[in-house]
Amino acid sequence: MFSVVQISDSHVSPRITHFNANWEAARALLPRLSPDLIVHTGDATLDGADMEADCAMAAAGLADLPAPLRVVPGNHDVGDLGAATQPPTAARIARHERHFGPCVWTEDRPGWRLLGLNSQVIGAGDGGDEAQRAVIEEVIATLGPRRLAVFLHKPMFLDAVEEGPVGYWAVPPDVRAPVRRLLDHPNLRLVASGHLHIARLTTHGPATVAWCPATSFTLGGKLMADARGGDRRLGVMRHVFREDSVETEVIAIPDSRHLVLDDMIDEIYPPAPAAAGS
Ligand SMILES: [Fe+2]
Ligand SMILES: [Fe+2]
Repeated sequence: MFSVVQISDSHVSPRITHFNANWEAARALLPRLSPDLIVHTGDATLDGADMEADCAMAAAGLADLPAPLRVVPGNHDVGDLGAATQPPTAARIARHERHFGPCVWTEDRPGWRLLGLNSQVIGAGDGGDEAQRAVIEEVIATLGPRRLAVFLHKPMFLDAVEEGPVGYWAVPPDVRAPVRRLLDHPNLRLVASGHLHIARLTTHGPATVAWCPATSFTLGGKLMADARGGDRRLGVMRHVFREDSVETEVIAIPDSRHLVLDDMIDEIYPPAPAAAGS
């Protein structure tokens, strides 16, 4: 048995500081959870896609955690596929890796393989996308009897693998083929993501589908009309890996303050369109 604490969407910055205190509160919680591994599922920065200082601050806050750390990038860290102003370029990804380590990684533990993916390049059709597809195939080819857990920023899907377009909120349906290879695998037991700033636990066959809440803020009804059955709350997630299953719980962050982006979007992400804040 081992445990992974998942943290997500801390959105820290030395320029726009609204969410830094909540990140410090989350950091203070981590030693009490005694994790064997910590995984940050992206948007560690407010605007690391363009601001080196945001990357530096987020990386400093992740440098002295009470367990080994893995990070996958979010849209605010490396950009977003199809975004006119911040596409996930090789330069942005290289900067992220300089601060946070590889965007795509595997961690083998007894009986388990953990896989971190860069959701921001799925479907890009470029070298990064192709390299990641090769990693996925290699992971599947060499998995053996191990169980599999996948971490990424954007959910692989929202409510159903076969759903139509869901815009900004998940890996686009027309490019889900690589993640379908993982979703279809009988050894998959966990898919853990961030990005929605919502806490939700559902299932996909024998796998838990975990939406980790943010440490920073939630989105209210103006920016996200439908919470899709999840909870608009802050927190972290603890995943306890057993022989053939994962037990997941949402843990509140003591001393955090529930901030709602709707009230401050014009200041935080100007002139972001309504759905561009998470
Ligand atoms: Fe995000
Ligand atoms: Fe976010």
